[in-house]
Amino acid sequence: MKREYRIGLIGLGGMAREHIHWMDAVGRFRVVAVSDVDAEALANVGGRLGLGEEKRYSDFVRLIDDPDVDAIVSVTPNHVHADIVRACLLAGKPFLAEKPFTRVFEEAVPLLELYERRPVPAMIGFTYRYTPAFRYARELVRGGAIGAVRSFSIQYLQGWGSAIYDTPYLWRYNKEITGTGALGDLGSHMIDMARYLFGEFEELTAMLHTIIPERRDPSSGKPVRVEVDDFASFGARMADGSVGVFQTTRNAVGSGNQHEVSIYGDRGTIHASTLDPDRVVRIREEAPGQLARTTLEVPNRCKTKQYEDFLALLEGGTADGLPGFLDGFRNQEVLDAVVRSHVTKRAVRLPLLGRHEADRQQ
Ligand SMILES: NC(=O)c1ccc[n+]([C@@H]2O[C@H](COP(=O)([O-])OP(=O)(O)OC[C@H]3O[C@@H](n4cnc5c(N)ncnc54)[C@H](O)[C@@H]3O)[C@@H](O)[C@H]2O)c1
Repeated sequence: MKREYRIGLIGLGGMAREHIHWMDAVGRFRVVAVSDVDAEALANVGGRLGLGEEKRYSDFVRLIDDPDVDAIVSVTPNHVHADIVRACLLAGKPFLAEKPFTRVFEEAVPLLELYERRPVPAMIGFTYRYTPAFRYARELVRGGAIGAVRSFSIQYLQGWGSAIYDTPYLWRYNKEITGTGALGDLGSHMIDMARYLFGEFEELTAMLHTIIPERRDPSSGKPVRVEVDDFASFGARMADGSVGVFQTTRNAVGSGNQHEVSIYGDRGTIHASTLDPDRVVRIREEAPGQLARTTLEVPNRCKTKQYEDFLALLEGGTADGLPGFLDGFRNQEVLDAVVRSHVTKRAVRLPLLGRHEADRQQ
């Protein structure tokens, strides 16, 4: 019989529900312990999963140290990310940790040093590598379907922060907790998509902006200043010579979860979007001067699930395109470069620190 992995789940909010669902869909995982600082969330989720009081931890370090837990899934707000990753590395516990890797790059640097001394199987929650359309787009590009890639655009738009919803002040607007706004939340996914498709960043120029500078406190109703961006745009040159533009906001009215990529090569174009996750549009020259636009169904081989790859990692293997520890670290470095460019109003070259991933061992 195949081994079942006993999971300790930290952070029991909205995204944790998705993780539980994803684990169930793959099988081979059982949540045996949970942690949250919110007693109600702990009681509700702990109860729903049938866990005894002794497996409901308010302190995540105790959960990580629990010998009944084989691996950690971390789904907390961003200010806890670095502490959880550090505790997992110190305990030698494999983990899947949500993005962004940390709040700021300064938190990421000592984690890399620790990881290099004491590596554990680690995966970062760059979920969109598992959107079939993006995976297929990568396969097509690598297979030469549109010739050499020259430029691209990536956008990630959501609408829940728009003025029409009068969205209150949440942790996602609090710099101390979140680090950056739409940039770290959605921009980290765009950066990961660019790295997944094209490789490393070489240089970028950025602009951040806060569209709604005050939001009401949910309990008092009083206005609270928003210290983070809710719009981010940047342009980048990649190490492979291609250039791209990026935009993200959570204030795009009508955009539910719209993450999309357009890739322009010498011989054609590919469009892929979360709005149509099982199809890719390819435009290319079929005969001299004649363009053909084809909607391609994504083949089943591109329908890998995130937890299938986590399973492969726990079993001592890896998988093509698995977002690992260094993907989290490099992503945080690019996020930091975006902030630096915005603040200094200058282009920023990458890497900020050390060699690129290709020079290191995963
Ligand atoms: N990969 C994706 O597509 C994706 C999508 C949404 C959210 N996320 C990420 O998931 C994380 C959580 O987002 P969410 O929407 O679930 O947030 P949420 O606010 O709904 O839930 C966070 C939970 O963490 C708990 N928590 C806070 N501090 C804690 C601590 N010290 N120890 C244990 N628990 C603690 C909170 O009480 C809350 O229950 C964020 O980092 C976010 O960026 C990723």
